[in-house]
Amino acid sequence: MAIIRNDNDKTFTLYTKNTMYQLKIDEIGALVNTYYGAKMDYTDMYYAVRPEFGASFSPNLAQTNDSSSCHSFNHIHSELPVAGMGDFRLTTLGVRNTDGSYGADPRYYDAKIENGKYSIKGLPAFYGDESEAQTLIITLKDNVYDIYFHLYYGVFEEYDLITRSLVVENKTNASIHLEKAMSMALNLPCGSYDMMYFHGRHMRERILERTRINHAKVCVESVRGASSHMHNPFVIVCDKNATEDAGSAWGIGLVYSGNFEISAMKNLQEKTRVVAGINPENFNFEVEAGATFETPEVAMVYSKNGFAILSNCFHKATRNNLCRGKFKNARRPVLINSWEAVYFNFNADKLVSMAEEAKKLGVELFVLDDGWFGKRDNDHSGLGDWTPNEEKLQGTLKSLSERINELGMQFGIWFEPECINPDSDLYRAHPDYALAMPNREPLLSRNQYVLDLSRDDVIENIYNQLVNVLENANISYVKWDFNRHLTDVYSAKLPAHKQGEVYHRHMLGAYKLLEKVTQRFPNILFESCSGGGGRFDFGLLHYMPQAWTSDNTDAIDRLKIQYGTSFAYPVSTMGAHVSVCPNHGNARITPLKTRGNVAYFGTYGLELDVSKMTEEEKEEIKRQIVEFKKYYDLIQYGDYYRLIAPFPDEESLFCAWETVKDDGSEALVCVVRYETDCCTAPEFVKVKGLKPNQLYRINGSEKTYLGSALMNIGFLIEYNFISYPSNLYHITQA
Ligand code: DGJ
Repeated sequence: MAIIRNDNDKTFTLYTKNTMYQLKIDEIGALVNTYYGAKMDYTDMYYAVRPEFGASFSPNLAQTNDSSSCHSFNHIHSELPVAGMGDFRLTTLGVRNTDGSYGADPRYYDAKIENGKYSIKGLPAFYGDESEAQTLIITLKDNVYDIYFHLYYGVFEEYDLITRSLVVENKTNASIHLEKAMSMALNLPCGSYDMMYFHGRHMRERILERTRINHAKVCVESVRGASSHMHNPFVIVCDKNATEDAGSAWGIGLVYSGNFEISAMKNLQEKTRVVAGINPENFNFEVEAGATFETPEVAMVYSKNGFAILSNCFHKATRNNLCRGKFKNARRPVLINSWEAVYFNFNADKLVSMAEEAKKLGVELFVLDDGWFGKRDNDHSGLGDWTPNEEKLQGTLKSLSERINELGMQFGIWFEPECINPDSDLYRAHPDYALAMPNREPLLSRNQYVLDLSRDDVIENIYNQLVNVLENANISYVKWDFNRHLTDVYSAKLPAHKQGEVYHRHMLGAYKLLEKVTQRFPNILFESCSGGGGRFDFGLLHYMPQAWTSDNTDAIDRLKIQYGTSFAYPVSTMGAHVSVCPNHGNARITPLKTRGNVAYFGTYGLELDVSKMTEEEKEEIKRQIVEFKKYYDLIQYGDYYRLIAPFPDEESLFCAWETVKDDGSEALVCVVRYETDCCTAPEFVKVKGLKPNQLYRINGSEKTYLGSALMNIGFLIEYNFISYPSNLYHITQA
């Protein structure tokens, strides 16, 4: 049993393989989180969180001379902290009641345990059947109004994963307004914690930063209507000394792709609270009488031994219980994408000749990126008109797809369904389809507006256009792009008092469109993209099992990007391509081998004009495709370890990562040198996950190495006298 209810202690204890999460109904009926950490035998952990003394300026429900019997919302480890009720810390909920008052006092009402994982209507979520997960639903009720708070917990024993979500149900006879509806609060015991988060910008996504959580709020967020390149909706809160292999670490990821906030702060009693959910900025959701509001899901993993375990739990859970469809664990085709090869400048003959050359090297899927539809020779026009440009395609899209199929390749195509250019037939016919404020010219970004996906008629229009294209050509793959952020967040179809709902309704609409399209075409492989990795999050991975990691295809910059991405997301989700040099983003020149080695630890594909490559380069690509396929299962499904970080302060000039079979029988280590210096000192790399007493060979060497030796001391990194060298080390049992 993963969930244990103890009616004597009034506790609910959630067990995974290695962790324990405990809730308790306290003396007044409030729900408190007593513990989230390493697994222990059952014990009531309330003693560890019960405030033993009051503190000044903390309002009390029961004011007595004996301060230990005071009950202040400002002190308890509340599972659902509500604003306006004397909890001055970070809160999750802001409830504006029918009478205008601001607050709620949720007290225990009932609870039930179900087998299998709960689902959330219209929102992405982890899923699991009865053999994989259990659900706990605790219902709290406001002690004055008929407002119910259903807290959902999903427990995935095998992956140490606990999910949370909240449903607010208004059983009063008038509307209430949620001015803040975040998904969770987590109260940690006294201690010093760091937050690790993944920031960036276009072409520089998910760069790891680490900061101490003190008495000022540490906050990662997006108010861009997309999770964004700038902050990822995933953080790790950890002991101040935690490393890859040691120390407590809590991974917290939102299964949501819109505005979000994850914040942490120490309170006056030196305890840290973390909250996560929809960003309260410009959020105000009316919950009508009898209606409910569901928050996005939060996924949490605790590890008592550092980040590597935590990452691997997220990786496995993502692959098996978040991604859906036939591709989630399937071998994906090696693709070539036309974007960096020709951008908007192509016709069908050019595309077919590129495909022909690529096919000779072993490429299996040809992807036609932007520019094939409407009037689209640059990014100024055409978005919204999903009609193939038959002049440019020298025929129909079907005929082009057939020409590619005849080469023995699959055919894929690019869409940007959520946006519209003002210079498009769709906009001329329906200007109100775009988000725009009354009396103001909407702001342009990449010459485009965002469609108002809070509207069903807009969703239907785009859906029908997409279906028409996808049904009328042989399409095996879709790249689903999104190239600007939301402004002018106003829907022509909603009344004034509901405009605070538009950000979230828009996201729900995007998910609805995605659900309809991906369910209608289960045999198409979908890859998400948002100007590269601007919406690389658990939410979109529920619909599309891979995401274009970054528009930056430079192998050296990619080290930091893929390294940061790996803390939450598995290799199988990271779109990674080999492109030309000098790189189009930063003009860097790197060896082709290094570009390949880095792209192996992603989905590996090409993004260049093969017909412009030398014979030698073509041979190298051929070799890479064979090698990538040889290691495919090991790379995509093995346990993943970050061995050396790509930051100079690690006192190394190398970055190294590894994938290893979970029984320790085989590993592949990739080492890349990202900086040069003269008179290089010898460097060793320590491997992880091997069997200590087993002998291994490296790249088929005569010499054998003991597993413990490779893990405790490591092996010498080969010295290559070139810029940005890299090597793969295949470690097998002797
Ligand atoms: C942004 C994407 O990240 C690129 O890969 C490419 O698809 C362009 N959009 C096309 O406009």
